[in-house]
Amino acid sequence: MTQKNFKRTLVTCALPYANGPVHIGHLAGVYVPADIYVRYLRLRGRDVLYICGSDEHGVPITIKARQKGCSPQDIVDEYNALIDKSFKALGINFDIYGRTSSKVHAANASQFFRKLYDEGKFVTRESEQFYDPEAKTFLADRYIVGTCPKCGAEGAYGDQCEHCGSTLSPEELINPHSKLSGAEPIKKKTTHWYLPLQDYEQWLREWILEGHKEWRSNVYGQVKSWLDGGLQPRAVTRDLDWGVPVPVEGAEGKVLYVWFDAPIGYISNTIELLPNDWEKWWKSPDTRLVHFIGKDNIVFHCIVFPAMLKAYGDGFILPDNVPANEFLNLEGEKISTSRGWAVWAHEYVKDFPGKEDVLRYVLTANAPETKDNDFSWKEFQTRNNSELVAIFGNFVNRAVVLTHKYFGGKVPAAGELMPADKEVLAQIPALRDSLEKNIEGFRFREALKDAMSIARIGNKYISDSEPWKLAKEDLARTGTILNVCLQICADLAIAFEPFTPFACERLVKMLNLPGTSWEQLGAEDIIPAGHQLAEAQLLFEKIDDAAIQVQLDRLDAIRAAREAEAKAALAKQVQPQKEECTFEEFEKMDIRTATVLEAERVPKTDKLLKLTIDTGIDKRVIVSGIAEYYAPEDMVGKQICILANLRPRVIKGIESKGMILMAKQGDGSMRFVTPQEVVANGAVVG
Ligand code: MF3
Ligand code: ZN
Repeated sequence: MTQKNFKRTLVTCALPYANGPVHIGHLAGVYVPADIYVRYLRLRGRDVLYICGSDEHGVPITIKARQKGCSPQDIVDEYNALIDKSFKALGINFDIYGRTSSKVHAANASQFFRKLYDEGKFVTRESEQFYDPEAKTFLADRYIVGTCPKCGAEGAYGDQCEHCGSTLSPEELINPHSKLSGAEPIKKKTTHWYLPLQDYEQWLREWILEGHKEWRSNVYGQVKSWLDGGLQPRAVTRDLDWGVPVPVEGAEGKVLYVWFDAPIGYISNTIELLPNDWEKWWKSPDTRLVHFIGKDNIVFHCIVFPAMLKAYGDGFILPDNVPANEFLNLEGEKISTSRGWAVWAHEYVKDFPGKEDVLRYVLTANAPETKDNDFSWKEFQTRNNSELVAIFGNFVNRAVVLTHKYFGGKVPAAGELMPADKEVLAQIPALRDSLEKNIEGFRFREALKDAMSIARIGNKYISDSEPWKLAKEDLARTGTILNVCLQICADLAIAFEPFTPFACERLVKMLNLPGTSWEQLGAEDIIPAGHQLAEAQLLFEKIDDAAIQVQLDRLDAIRAAREAEAKAALAKQVQPQKEECTFEEFEKMDIRTATVLEAERVPKTDKLLKLTIDTGIDKRVIVSGIAEYYAPEDMVGKQICILANLRPRVIKGIESKGMILMAKQGDGSMRFVTPQEVVANGAVVG
């Protein structure tokens, strides 16, 4: 349990893969909560180090590079810069945003592996892996493509079909071939190094299941189920040419597995920042280590990386907490980078300049802390307009504007406080205590509610006490009320700083404060009487329907494109061959050519056309269910094929003699069958 008094806190955020931009799911899951935590600790004057960086290895990066016809380094350079910039734009300022393609990291990760290797901490195992005999290289599952056995889509990967979402193994693919050469992969033997995780199981049980019962239940529960399921040796190397080379002779063509090198990246980035002073952050029992991650990273941060650090020894500390979040959905659907179903950080800051705080606020108010949650643009708008603008912003604006109006912008002195004044001021220390407990317990949604309660209280107080009405007859009372309001404004500048830092910076300027510290929150007289305020400015602005509609339209377009694609794929789906039939059975069918003479819709139906046709032997009527695909005028004059000797049927009161031959696609759509050139009507097809 966390009862220890740590001297300093090392906060890490999951290193985002540099193969795409970060989106609101990443922000809500990892970076916004971490940033709130770090800002809070700093406001309290604690010693904090805040580490992040790009995760620049792994197969998806090499695939993206191939698709774009550039090098993996080009890809990671591009996204590293983009991600770094978006974090800064949102006020997320790490002490270092490093990269796992750096020299420092290569040296550090290599050395880490080598020490474990030298000390016999790994086991080797031989296994059979897919190999491209033409490109002469082993193939990661992602590099094997083929037809999905589940849905029939082409281009399914060896680990997953993006069309139907099924998890696959390369063995299951129909017509598997290498993405590199197109060759059919063969199996080939290869040797890798493994960390025998099962050797650490007992120790992990004691450390986490016994020692960290205070961890979030989703984290604790996942760890427990992994441990109960029994741990297996985990490969820490791969046959690939992008990554940190395995620093062992005879390991040519092998690199460290990305999930081995990436967490070491936290250490490398610290070394990069503090080459002479990094050890106190990683090897002192006085340092508290906290990993902010998403739920898909739990096993790596709670089991694999700790086992690596334990194996390494040398005084490395372990995380004191791992507050992993669940996932955020977007408008009711899973966020998907490949489908473009996301709100990207870099686009948000372009589309909503000056509204960085709004995103931080909404993602916190709605954070997926205990379960998956949904982001909707309507809710985003409502939370901005009716919470940030109507409560927080409105309160501050009224207090500052009225102070300018009645007191020339100088904080009026408070006279004797009335019960209502005392009551509102008395609530603030309690809210501060709750806010502290909530942030320190990683309950950021609750913490934000506490901060918002201060704004609500202030807003209600100013509305109820109506200082603008009192000014004429009792200016002193107006002054007292405004004094109370301005103290609350200063409280807000402190309480909201971790959540909405940009607005708080504006507020601090407006209140003309030399600075803020947590200790002032809830204290009496944060701003002394006579203190001159700066000009009033709006803290938040309304977001109108048009701005929201732009975002909704963009998502609708993605949905429409996806539906069209799904339909096209369905159309291509082929039915399996029918049961065998004999030539005699086929011969019984009288199929021949005919020409449509007249066509009309069958009244009161959607699907039926009544066609009068020339069959070469007679003129007759056939009722056909093709009205969804052909208008009557499309049919007139067309040569078609019919099954002439089908037993006549009465359909909607019309006798139909025969059937039009249609080619029916997987999605049910139909096209009539026609001879390649016009032939005589009544020609026998067979
Ligand atoms: N890149 C990984 C992801 O986005 C996270 C890596 S975290 C680290 O899921 F610890 F490995 F760095
Ligand atoms: Zn599929």
